[in-house]
Amino acid sequence: MALSPQWLDELRARISLSSLIGRTTKLQKAGHEYKACCPFHDEKSPSFTVSDQKGFYHCFGCGAHGDAIRWMTDQRGLPFIDAVKELASEAGLEMPEPDPRAAQAAQQRAGLHDVTQAAQEWFVAQLQSEAGTKAREYLAGRGFDAHTAARFGFGYAPADRQAMKQALSQFDEKELIETGLRIDVEGKPPYDRFRDRLMLPIQDLRGRVIGFGGRILQSETDAPKYLNSPETPLFDKGRTLYNLHRAGPASRQTERIVVVEGYMDVVALAAAGFEDAVAPLGTALTEQQIELLWRQVPRPILCFDGDAAGKRAAMRAATRALPMLRPSHSLAIVSLPAGKDPDDLLREKGVAALEDLLAAPASLLDMLWQHERDAQPLHSPEDKAGLKARLLAHVESIGDPDIAALYKREFLERFSAFAFPPREREPWVKNNTTAPFKRGAFRKAADPVLSPEASRRLRHMSEGGSRDGLAAAVVAGLMRHPAEVMRHAEALSRYAGSDPRVAPFVDSLLDAAELLEPGHKSPISGSEGQAAPPEDTRFSFLVEGTDPQVAREDLAEAVSLLVERPALEAALAAATARFESDPEGAFAEQQRLLKRKLAFEKRLGQMASNRANRLAQDNSEPVAAHGDALTGQVTD
Ligand code: UTP
Ligand code: MN
Repeated sequence: MALSPQWLDELRARISLSSLIGRTTKLQKAGHEYKACCPFHDEKSPSFTVSDQKGFYHCFGCGAHGDAIRWMTDQRGLPFIDAVKELASEAGLEMPEPDPRAAQAAQQRAGLHDVTQAAQEWFVAQLQSEAGTKAREYLAGRGFDAHTAARFGFGYAPADRQAMKQALSQFDEKELIETGLRIDVEGKPPYDRFRDRLMLPIQDLRGRVIGFGGRILQSETDAPKYLNSPETPLFDKGRTLYNLHRAGPASRQTERIVVVEGYMDVVALAAAGFEDAVAPLGTALTEQQIELLWRQVPRPILCFDGDAAGKRAAMRAATRALPMLRPSHSLAIVSLPAGKDPDDLLREKGVAALEDLLAAPASLLDMLWQHERDAQPLHSPEDKAGLKARLLAHVESIGDPDIAALYKREFLERFSAFAFPPREREPWVKNNTTAPFKRGAFRKAADPVLSPEASRRLRHMSEGGSRDGLAAAVVAGLMRHPAEVMRHAEALSRYAGSDPRVAPFVDSLLDAAELLEPGHKSPISGSEGQAAPPEDTRFSFLVEGTDPQVAREDLAEAVSLLVERPALEAALAAATARFESDPEGAFAEQQRLLKRKLAFEKRLGQMASNRANRLAQDNSEPVAAHGDALTGQVTD
């Protein structure tokens, strides 16, 4: 049923959004609007607003946003059409009659299905006829048995330019052209699109034939290997996956779906017993195709050819998926041996080899990391900065803030470990006669300490609390875990660059850390012999007895939060400053940044409460912590 925008506007206008929402959520009047604790996420102070005037609700906390219909679909969980029906009956509005034009279009499509189905039957008959001899030999030469050929509906299009028109004379020329079976170019009589080709029907989810792929039989020719049906009222390439109507049901058994590049790969896989493979139609994987795949399984496996084009296609699919990622939905990637496609691999190495590869695909994150890591040499600081920028650009394109934060953390950890591997034992620290000159090289190797200036500032910061709380916690954490310092050298230097008050610290810490022996365990101490700062129970890495792995990870996250903070603050300030010149753009930007800031604060709050959570494991109630990360304050 087609609902016109005008009708939907009328519906929205008749509904009082506040009374609709007020039925399940306690609203408080605030000026022209209403406020409430957001029903879409857990919160203690209200950041959810409802405006009858504007006709929408908005949560400044989690970003939930919508109108009355959206409320019914998102909060009540109704399908769109049911939401509309329920609202319409409440508003006393008749549902519109089905649109006669839409009905007509549906009928016309039904007619076109008859055309493609008839064409399919005719191609199959041609394959069995005298004319199809070469094509049958070709199939046999590729090792496809009769059962596979029949299942996949292989056919043959004869060479004659008018054969199809004569065979399908029950249909009008117009219908043959509309379904893409015949070509009509100006100044020429129409002619058959597919000639002397092996034909493969392309079917929709219900198994109806909607288009065709036609492969040439001879290998040495200038003609394109495949000719496909054009886009038609039946055939939308971006929303179709070859073989999905068979692979979908199969994937419910295997809990897997495999995306390969070629039609023939799909057929070869099925012939070898892998029924759960699909292929796009000679184009890059689209968003709609990714959604179709996610309806089958949460983590479809891309298994593209092991050549440059296949790798590019996989990368393109990966970057296209990033903005769409949502919890538990991702892609996995199998890389095939160089120069092989799945069909080759099956023929050369057998079923088990492919099973093994499919059983251990790389994650999307692994794939992006490997791709960027290997994309350029990594000799200079500029190269390293380039790698980091490429990784962060991927993070930036991820839509879901939680997933983005997790990718960022993992990327930065891998980046640090790769760009700044733990130092080999450096003999010159002990015996500097043969050593090149190096900062700190002439200092005593034992018992690294902070410089007096750094010690003074650290004391000041941790006493002064508030604004520098996070920075102080990070420095204290690094003093306690000196082996971690070099891993974060790059991030710390960058942060020092943005905050001159912190610079002496960072220098001093790096100096001290450079003198460490491998495996050094005891903390770096302050200059006046005072030990590393005392326990701060909000941060696991400042607490005696925390699992070292947990401490290490939390510390890494604290460093990345610390480093992100000035950038976020600067961007927010810039957006605010732009308000006068570009109110709309600045508003959108500010909203986006506020959302990120919220995610950021949530992460810090979660991290700081992790420790408390671990302590409270017996009561299964998680301990809530609300933090203001931009001031570094965490309050329970
Ligand atoms: P391939 O050349 O890998 O095809 O192209 P294939 O299916 O594996 O075929 P064989 O094994 O060589 O016979 C991958 C896909 O790209 C599209 C088709 O969808 C094909 O299946 N393609 C390729 C075209 O649309 N046109 C072409 O000329 C080539
Ligand atoms: Mn191929």
